[in-house]
Parts: sequence; structure tokens; C-alpha cells
Amino acid sequence: MRYAALSTVRQSDVEKQVSIGQGRSDVRDRLHLLHMREQAAVIEEQGVQLVNPERIFLSSPHMGGAERVLVQEVFDSNWIAPTGPMVTRFEEDLAQLTGMGHVAALSSGTAALHLALRLSDISLGDEVWGATMTFIGGVAPILYLGAKPVFLDVDRDNFLLDLDLLEDKLKAASVKGTLPKALITTDLYGHVVDGSRIAALRREYGFTWISDTAEAVGAYRDGQHAGAGADFVILSFNGNKIITTSGGGALASNNAATIDQARFLSTQARDPAPHYEHTTYGYNYRLSNVCAAIGVGQLQVLSQRVARRRQIHALYRERLGRLPGFVLSSEASGMQANRWLTTVQIRSKEAGLNRETIRLALEADNIESRPLWKPMHMQPVFAEARYYGEGVAARAFEEGLCLPSGSSMADGDVDRICSIIEDTATQR
Ligand SMILES: Cc1ncc(COP(=O)(O)O)c(C=O)c1O
Repeated sequence: MRYAALSTVRQSDVEKQVSIGQGRSDVRDRLHLLHMREQAAVIEEQGVQLVNPERIFLSSPHMGGAERVLVQEVFDSNWIAPTGPMVTRFEEDLAQLTGMGHVAALSSGTAALHLALRLSDISLGDEVWGATMTFIGGVAPILYLGAKPVFLDVDRDNFLLDLDLLEDKLKAASVKGTLPKALITTDLYGHVVDGSRIAALRREYGFTWISDTAEAVGAYRDGQHAGAGADFVILSFNGNKIITTSGGGALASNNAATIDQARFLSTQARDPAPHYEHTTYGYNYRLSNVCAAIGVGQLQVLSQRVARRRQIHALYRERLGRLPGFVLSSEASGMQANRWLTTVQIRSKEAGLNRETIRLALEADNIESRPLWKPMHMQPVFAEARYYGEGVAARAFEEGLCLPSGSSMADGDVDRICSIIEDTATQR
């Protein structure tokens, strides 16, 4: 029997917590409790008892030390607001990192994408194309604007938009006069799309290129930071990302006027006047000066965080790459992935087991893992959306598992995870 003492995750206890949660307006808490209930149901069904109290998470925040001092500075200055000197400093540091001329610090990556689409003039009925394998925040803003998402398949090695397929479909759409107004590329799990190819396609077909680099902060391709060359770059500093501001994001561009406009829209589109005057509507999307201080501190340790995640990936590769049917994602030539999350594909025929068996074995040992992101064209909310592809993303979702990859993990944690996977795989 595997370990256990997560008594809080007993089905009955979780039911109690969920019903308490029902009275609250905090949707995130409720979703968290529902997730716990789902986990508990699965675990109880399997008859597994949890006893290992040392939970290993997929990707935990990892502070560097300077963040506290910087937050204290903010408190001392009393700039406790969604503006202030630390927001400006964070934006300057991000411009330097990404090589983009201008950056607006925002409350989330999803907000950044919403603004990028609005600033690209996307509105009712416009087509926006993008990779089907992504996180919901990387596409939901298309719906906020009443536009139409079209999903394309990904490549099997890096789960990035399949550029041959994209080129074919753009060619066909050009003949029919149905080219997309915007394209979202997603640098999934810290892999980086081939920007020079996208730039060439943009020249030919004239769409706006939005690079969703939420998962690829600190990743490079051909010596340039992820997103280089795009019209807009989206960054996320959510709590699970390689660096975090607890929650936060940014929008980068080489166009100063566009980023000025993003700042305007993110602060309720207030026209210059002594009273509140609005010729258009905006959003409350600006990043807090307190959170920006955390971001400034986190950027100081970004290269160390990337190095450690790459090391963790190498440890997994060495151990799991030996198991039949276990495939880790490759790194295309010229790519320096940040290895935000290490993913493994478990080809059940060769491995003799599937990814769900591994996920439950890890969960029984109090280790969080997660299937690869379920493709958007398979999500009920996008049942009406068009999809082009041959099922590569669907298969990757079926076979793929994200493994704990946080930079604060010890080598011993990776060893514990690999041992469980090896034991489970060899017992088959
Ligand atoms: C690919 C991708 N796009 C967009 C987002 C949205 O970012 P945020 O959570 O900061 O809104 C995320 C992650 O959270 C993401 O992984």
C-alpha cells in the first residue's frame, strides 16, 4: 500500500468544505474545493490511502529574497496602488528582458491578451487563429470580443502550432478571401515557436501576430527572447509560473503608441479632464505597485530559476528516458526552452500502462501531476469552433503528463518521483 495522511482529502470532509464554499462568492476557492472533491473521489475509488504529508506541487512560487525588501520599500513610500515607481521599474526590466521596446504591466496574462486583441481591432465575427493545445486564458478573450476562434493542431515534439499546417491553411484561406485578422502562437511549456517563419507568413498574409509567451518567460530561440518579432507579446506572472508576482501579467510591443493605449484602456479609459470623462470604455487591468515589487525581485533570479528547471528536466530525462514508451519533449535546434514544466508522453502499447496509472500512483504518494492541457477544440465551450488537424494534440493530451518541475524542488524530490514512476512501470 502507498503512504497517506491527507485526511483532509477524504470525500466526506471535502463535501463539508464544498458546502461551506457554496455560501462564498470566491469562485477560485470553490473551484479549488471542487478539484479536491474530484481528486478525493478518484483516490477513494482506487482504494488508496494517502499518508505522505510532504506534498510535491507541479510548480510552486520560489522567492529569491530581494522581493521582501522591495515590497517593504513600497510600503515605506505608501505607493499602495495600481500605479507607482515599482510598476515603472518592472516595465523597464521586462522591456530589457524581452527586447521589446515598450511594456505595460497588468493584472494577468489573460488581461494582456484581451487588450492585445482589442488593440488589434478584433470585434464581432472576426476570425482569430491559434494552436488548439493551450490554456483557457490564452483563448477566452477571443470570446469576450465576440470573435471566432479557429484552432489548429500542434507538432508532436514541442506541442507548438504546426507551421506546415498553418501555411497550408493560410494559403487556402487567402484564395477564399477568409484570412484571419489575428494569429495567436503559444510557447507551450516554455518551448519557443519559430518566430522567423511566423514573421514570413505575416508578411505574406497580413495578420496581426500575438505571441502568448505566458509559459515561456526566460526562454529563447536563435538568441532572442520568446515572442521576438511579434506585434504583441503576452507574459504571465501567475503563482504557478517560472517567476511570479502572485498574480500578474504584461503586454509588450515595439509600438510605443499601442502600449500607451494599453495603459489607457487598463485604467478605465479615462480621458484627460478634471472630472471622469470617457469616449470609450476600458478595464481595471493595471498591476498593483506592491505586486510589481515582487516582480522586480523575481526578475533578478530568473536566470537561476531557468537553470534549475533545466537541470530538473535533465534529471527526469536521464531516469525516465530509459523506460520503454516514455518520451520527453525535445528542444528544436536553436531553442533554449525554460522547461517551465517537464512533460512526458507515455505510449501505452510500449510502456504497458497509461498516463492515468502513473498520475494516480503519484497522487497516492501526495505528488501533484497533471495531464497535458486538453485541446481547445475538444472543450465543450468551443464545440462550435472550427479545427484543422490530424489529432496530434488529442493524442498528446491522451498520453501526456506534466511532472512537478518547481525550481525549489530538491534532487531528492525528483528521485522520489522517478522511483515511483519506475516502480509502477516495471510492476506491469
Ligand atoms: C498559455 C497561457 N496563456 C495564458 C495564460 C493566462 O495567464 P494568467 O493566468 O496570468 O491570466 C496562461 C496561464 O495562466 C497560460 O499558461
